[in-house]
Amino acid sequence: LTGNSGMTLDDPLKQLQSALDHPAHRQALQQEREQFHALDLRTLFAQEPARFQTFCTRAGDLLLDYSKTHLREPTLQKLLDLARASGLPEAREALFSGARINHTEGRAALHTLLRGTRQEQHPAQAAEVAHCLQRQDRFARAILDDTWRGHTGMPIRRIVHIGIGGSDLGPAMAVHALSHFHLQPRREFNFVSNIDPTAMDQVLQQADPQTTLFIVASKTFTTLETLENARQARAWLVNALGEHAVARHFVAISTNLEAISAFGIDPDNAFPLWDWVGGRYSIWSAIALPLILAIGPAGFRDFLRGGALLDAHFLEADLRHNLPVILALLGIWYSHFFDTRSQALICYDQYLHLFPAYLQQLDMESNGKGCHRDGSPIAGPTAVPLWGGTGSNTQHSFHQLFHQGQIIVPVEFLVARHSLNPRGEMHDMLYVNCLAQSRALMMGRTLAECVQELCERGMDPDRAQALAPHLVMPGNRPSTTLVYPRLTPSVLGQLIALYEHRVFCQSVIWNINAFDQWGVELGKQISRQLLAVLQGQPGQTALDSSTAGLLAL
Ligand code: F6P
Repeated sequence: LTGNSGMTLDDPLKQLQSALDHPAHRQALQQEREQFHALDLRTLFAQEPARFQTFCTRAGDLLLDYSKTHLREPTLQKLLDLARASGLPEAREALFSGARINHTEGRAALHTLLRGTRQEQHPAQAAEVAHCLQRQDRFARAILDDTWRGHTGMPIRRIVHIGIGGSDLGPAMAVHALSHFHLQPRREFNFVSNIDPTAMDQVLQQADPQTTLFIVASKTFTTLETLENARQARAWLVNALGEHAVARHFVAISTNLEAISAFGIDPDNAFPLWDWVGGRYSIWSAIALPLILAIGPAGFRDFLRGGALLDAHFLEADLRHNLPVILALLGIWYSHFFDTRSQALICYDQYLHLFPAYLQQLDMESNGKGCHRDGSPIAGPTAVPLWGGTGSNTQHSFHQLFHQGQIIVPVEFLVARHSLNPRGEMHDMLYVNCLAQSRALMMGRTLAECVQELCERGMDPDRAQALAPHLVMPGNRPSTTLVYPRLTPSVLGQLIALYEHRVFCQSVIWNINAFDQWGVELGKQISRQLLAVLQGQPGQTALDSSTAGLLAL
């Protein structure tokens, strides 16, 4: 494996290649693609009345209906051939066996071990994880039963979590998503990530230092935003309660335990993380401390078990019925063969309000890459922008574009079959709204149907003819629907693990490294240079006129 410098990186997956670069596979799939120029989803459903049964897969509590996509059985078989020829089974084994598949950083990606998968294969790491879990549980119980008190003897009632990226998005999303399961007395949870001082200011304005616990979460403990926010929080606390208060009001999580100590946080209040856990895969570790404080140790174990359940499915189900594999192949099918350039995730579940933002980092930071594992450039697209929101709100915002816009956006719907907070018929209304969207996208509405409908409503035929083109919906737009019974800790664990594995499967088929993120480095480097210039230290590098002009304002 040689990069530009001639240096060799040690890659345990070096024998793998993307079968997308193989003409035979591309041609086979291109041929499949051709038929869908003349064959739309409406016709497919008419021809194959059992599509729901054929293209529906379950894993744990999750059911995925992907019948409203451009697949026939032979198409799916060719996509599965692509996955096999790209070495998916071998790469999956390498992932779980702890091979250093994050080869550019020389690290394994063993986040699955945190949820108990394949513990027997990694006894040393498993023992460290178990020890950390015990400490987390003890700490959480002490906070929850009020035996851990603040410096002045008051119980902790507000948790302020400071972190960014993977050290923020997962815990923030999960604490919000599982708010139905928060233990009594309910505590306030705040998440501060941005370097914008307003973010910290808004939280400190409402906080009482005597009852507030700060959690500083940073895998590296070098991240500018997190360290600066933590400094501000520490100064605020010391100003109110004095230096001795820090030990009762600050805990931290990091791989860098020395840096935690140097920052002035008691080493007894530090929870470890390991370099084999990527930042955006760290929700299963002590980074989830706010979640553990919110739902308690038992709830957190359910969450971990949910993740493990999906691991078992990913490892054991045959590829044809393997949920992460199917989702991964659909993403590749559309972006490579239908030229779709974004994907939407619409959660018909208020609790999943922050899920699209969480998934954005997981998907785009993992797979938004420009070269194959051996450093050679990639010809086609890798991750496409993922965006979304909460239904039914999004129907009144951007679904217009899904239905009549001139670009095709494959949509993934997520919906709970039952509500955790039933109120009359509201959940039924939510559920049918979700189903109505996927049906409307698939069926569309023809010109003739529009004219007929308008006339039936009593419109004058000439006016109906004039108005009808505006009402036409092309249909034939793909969507999948993922249904789960209710959003419990276990179900959330299953959902997260599902998407982690989807991202991994796609990375294998593209033959890229999903576990590094070199693309974020240059911006950090330049911002350090610019801060020096802004603070009056002359810069080493000449600045372009735009940056210099903006800096001088
Ligand atoms: O800048 C990107 C990133 O490195 C993410 O990958 C990571 O989740 C985030 O920053 C935070 O990093 P840390 O946990 O080390 O503070």
